[in-house]
Amino acid sequence: MHKQLLRTKSILIHSDSGLKKCLTAFDLALLGIGCAIGTGIFVLTGIAAATESGPAVVLSFVFAGIASAFAALSYSELAASVGGSGSAYGYSYVAFGEFIAWVMGWILLLEYGVGAAAVANGWSGYFINTLTNFNLHLPEALTKAPMVGGLINLPAFAIIWALTILLIIGVKESARFNNIIVIIKLSTIAIFITLASAHIHPENWHPFMPYGWFSTLENGKNVGVLAGASLVFFAYFGFDAVSTAAEESKNPQRDLPIGLLASLAFCTIVYIIVSGLLTGIVPYTALNVSSPVAFALSEIGYTWASTLVATGVLAGLITVLLVLLYGLTRILFAMSRDGLISPVFSQVNPDRQTPTKVILMCGLIVSIIAGFIPLGELAETVNIGTLASFVMVCVGVIVLRIRQPELKRPFKNPWNPLIPVLGILSCSALMTFLPAITWFRFGIWILVGVIVYFVYSIHHSKLKS
Ligand code: ALA
Repeated sequence: MHKQLLRTKSILIHSDSGLKKCLTAFDLALLGIGCAIGTGIFVLTGIAAATESGPAVVLSFVFAGIASAFAALSYSELAASVGGSGSAYGYSYVAFGEFIAWVMGWILLLEYGVGAAAVANGWSGYFINTLTNFNLHLPEALTKAPMVGGLINLPAFAIIWALTILLIIGVKESARFNNIIVIIKLSTIAIFITLASAHIHPENWHPFMPYGWFSTLENGKNVGVLAGASLVFFAYFGFDAVSTAAEESKNPQRDLPIGLLASLAFCTIVYIIVSGLLTGIVPYTALNVSSPVAFALSEIGYTWASTLVATGVLAGLITVLLVLLYGLTRILFAMSRDGLISPVFSQVNPDRQTPTKVILMCGLIVSIIAGFIPLGELAETVNIGTLASFVMVCVGVIVLRIRQPELKRPFKNPWNPLIPVLGILSCSALMTFLPAITWFRFGIWILVGVIVYFVYSIHHSKLKS
């Protein structure tokens, strides 16, 4: 076992990966913010408020934020001590060995791949709306997946390819692009906050918790503040992508914890303010629309701001997609380097210093999912995967403190093992509030992963060589 740990550590930590070390703590924080603020706050807040939490969606964000904070602290400890570009996958490898690491990597592929395809669908919806505002119309067959009566969702397909090309051009260029769009997105949010603050009607906050804490309706739908928390948790998914950039950051031991915690803290504050204002300016029952923030602004008479905000959201969703695709490619890169998937995917292009082949493969698969499958319902499937990976990271902190007490930990959680235990409890609780169908889908995905492991990965693993 000890030999295996040393071996995996050397696989995960070595510094000659060929990836360019150019990201600062500031870049990393913006990377996290760029991925986190997106569909969750701009779309799911409205759905959660209208159908699950009511105005208490603010509390849903608080609960989801608390669970994420415990996970972020655990991520920080492992990102600073274990490092590597594989994130939860890499930490599981060191803490638990190959099989659990494979399952974790498999879960992360679901999270990042399906998450990116889902956000691309959301982007497409906003894009088609914006075109319509300018009196431009795409043929309907090119705006919908076959299952919902179209041919292909072309904007969703195309946006994934555009960003794939950007990632191939090089990470620093991508990070710079990300930073600019994050600033546009934050300006958009600032406009909303400024205008909405002057139009609050406190009576909209009553009743505050129309659906109570938690209950399951006859149709199987879960409602209540806690069910809302497990839905809006999607808004927090992404800040952990910061940890996948370990090998491309200048000073990972110092910068990764800063990037992770700063982006999470920032997002939590923004979510609480935006969701509180949203339900304060229009009745929560009206918010079950595809663009609730823009809708609310036009409801209070700011049509120009509504259009401006919609444009900002379009830009904002691009950064979410960019970071999700970036994270996906880096997880595959790490899995390939360990021999669990084809070695082709860990080759770094010497000119560009990016893993070109793995980026192309991700672009291909995610664009097909985004273009041909309607993924509206899958946010919860993404959430169950994210929560499972958060739980595993927290367990990993505890296991590594026991198995490798001497490991150098530049960032160490106090009162061990309080923080990871609270992370395990809170993230597991959020998982239990997700619907039964989500658990079923997740179970199928894990089963397929286990089969792939025993058919391919176990025979090609570097541990065996
Ligand atoms: N957290 C990201 C979003 O809300 C995935 O779009």
